[in-house]
Amino acid sequence: MVWDILVAGSLNVDQIAYCSRLPGPGETLLGERYETGLGGKGANQAVQAALLSGEGKVGLLGAVGDDQNGSWYLEELAKTGTDCSKIITKTDCSTGVAPITVSMENGENSIVVVPGANMRLTGEDLDEEAIKGTKIVICQNEIPVSTTKRALQLGRAAGAKTIYSPAPCPSREDFEAFSEQIDYLIANQTEALELSGKETIQEAATTLQEKYKIKSVIVTLGGDGFAVKSEGELTLHPVVEKVDVVDTTGAGDSFVGAFSYSLTNAQKTTIEHAKFASMVASRSTTRKGTQKSYFRLAELE
Ligand code: RIB
Ligand code: NA
Repeated sequence: MVWDILVAGSLNVDQIAYCSRLPGPGETLLGERYETGLGGKGANQAVQAALLSGEGKVGLLGAVGDDQNGSWYLEELAKTGTDCSKIITKTDCSTGVAPITVSMENGENSIVVVPGANMRLTGEDLDEEAIKGTKIVICQNEIPVSTTKRALQLGRAAGAKTIYSPAPCPSREDFEAFSEQIDYLIANQTEALELSGKETIQEAATTLQEKYKIKSVIVTLGGDGFAVKSEGELTLHPVVEKVDVVDTTGAGDSFVGAFSYSLTNAQKTTIEHAKFASMVASRSTTRKGTQKSYFRLAELE
């Protein structure tokens, strides 16, 4: 078993309430519709990469609980072509869940994550052989910091490229536990500002890149495109195509998954990889749901 792309990260069952708008503090709102689906930032990124790469090219290292959600999740995930053979089932533990509210006004969301089994994934649980054989290792912040650190370290040691998405945003102290293992940092605006302690995208991206010696920092800007800071000056890139936004849930993860696919399959610059990722991610916002809104390669034309 050799995977091109390996994700060490979370799996959550998304419990999505579609409402006319997001509720305020202390407010009760009537929703229009309720849906459950596969989510979790780690799994989302793996699935987007797998839908583009094809069966068996992408593997996920993660954990579910010994409940109904866990067995349902693994059954459904296998259908996406993502290799689930190294996912661990933790006993006496619930599978991660994420209650999500999506505003039908503008497709924006708010998310609560209850990690369950994800937080019980240890460094020893990670399949070292799988990491040694891969070209890319991707991590986010929904599993323990020590596990992320080990995944990135093993990836680096094996000569793989490493991608980190600081979502949800870690403390600076936690980030610094593994920041030197990162080649590509892909953050949204909020995460980039918070992690750097700066006030503009320009300062944030430059600080993160220089302070942590990261090869490229990519800041996603939703409908405004993305910014890239590599060797030269920071560059801004508007969205490649305007779309009618229905649901932005998981769009950031789609970007990361598509970026990793492009990185393994095309000889291009970082900016070009990011342009492709931005196009794929914006397509995902035109459909409802998280993973189920993601496009396959053949659908992109
Ligand atoms: O990024 C979107 C994801 O965040 C959702 O799928 C939810 O599970 C949380 O992890
Ligand atoms: Na979507």
